[in-house]
Amino acid sequence: MPDDGLTYKYWEYMDISFSTWHPAIKKRRSRRRFDPNLPITPETLAALEKVCNKFVPFPSARSRLVTESTESVFKGIIGSYGKVKGAPAFIAFIGDMDDQFVQEKVGYTGEAIVLEATALGLNTCWVAGFFRPEIVASLIEVTRKEQVLAITPVGYAPEHESWEEKLMSRFGRSHNRLSLSKLVRGLPKEQWPNWVSVSLEAARLAPSAVNRQPWGFNVQNDDNITVFVRTSGPEFNVSKRLDCGIAMLHLEVAAVNSGCKGEWELLPSPQVAKFKIHP
Ligand SMILES: Cc1cc2nc3c(=O)[nH]c(=O)nc-3n(C[C@H](O)[C@H](O)[C@H](O)COP(=O)(O)O)c2cc1C
Repeated sequence: MPDDGLTYKYWEYMDISFSTWHPAIKKRRSRRRFDPNLPITPETLAALEKVCNKFVPFPSARSRLVTESTESVFKGIIGSYGKVKGAPAFIAFIGDMDDQFVQEKVGYTGEAIVLEATALGLNTCWVAGFFRPEIVASLIEVTRKEQVLAITPVGYAPEHESWEEKLMSRFGRSHNRLSLSKLVRGLPKEQWPNWVSVSLEAARLAPSAVNRQPWGFNVQNDDNITVFVRTSGPEFNVSKRLDCGIAMLHLEVAAVNSGCKGEWELLPSPQVAKFKIHP
């Protein structure tokens, strides 16, 4: 088990089906309507649950798979954004609020589970603002220090989005992403080694609340990338550092996939974390 300090060794978790996460980055898309006639098999649920229980790189962030009362958790949502229907299960992402880096740790941990679900052929959608935390808390054990920061439905969505879903994605300002030229500071692109190019591209594709893409990346030299909160303005009850944690996971998955393992150092605001590869 790694310590809960500012750095940890991610590759200790590599026996998880990590190599399938990189292709899942491009494949994943938020889906909010699920086919109620397509249940998840017990084998697939067991595979997902195994990763929820095993991928715990930080003791203050954890994931729990829940297969009951799914509809009631997503009820009471304001407007159409976030209205999730027909999912046979959901996963709760839980953080220990005494940890100053809890948001990025929950984002990082949760996105690994989302990519695992995607690799298993399931559909997901991060939901942070619009769910009923009291119902989630009644379904799983949560300590007094903990909070359910986000959940995702899991299930099978029809291949094509319904008009309702298309409308919702538009409210979430769709699936478009900013170009790297708007996000990156530091070394000019021409001087980036391959691991930096592929890692930044993967980080850019991360999902974020209302697709706000609050991250920025600083490439100081060829062996590290710092993630920081680039945007100012209100958070609307969902921490931008949680979004940045999701981007961190994408960044590292791509770095490791290109042969570069490294370590994270978590940093105080407005910086988020620095990833330094091993010599
Ligand atoms: C932390 C977080 C919270 C989100 N909250 C909601 C939500 O409450 N309701 C919803 O419908 N979508 C939610 N989303 C999904 C985003 O709108 C979606 O990821 C974004 O528009 C990008 O689209 P994509 O995931 O299809 O690439 C959330 C995403 C993240 C990362």
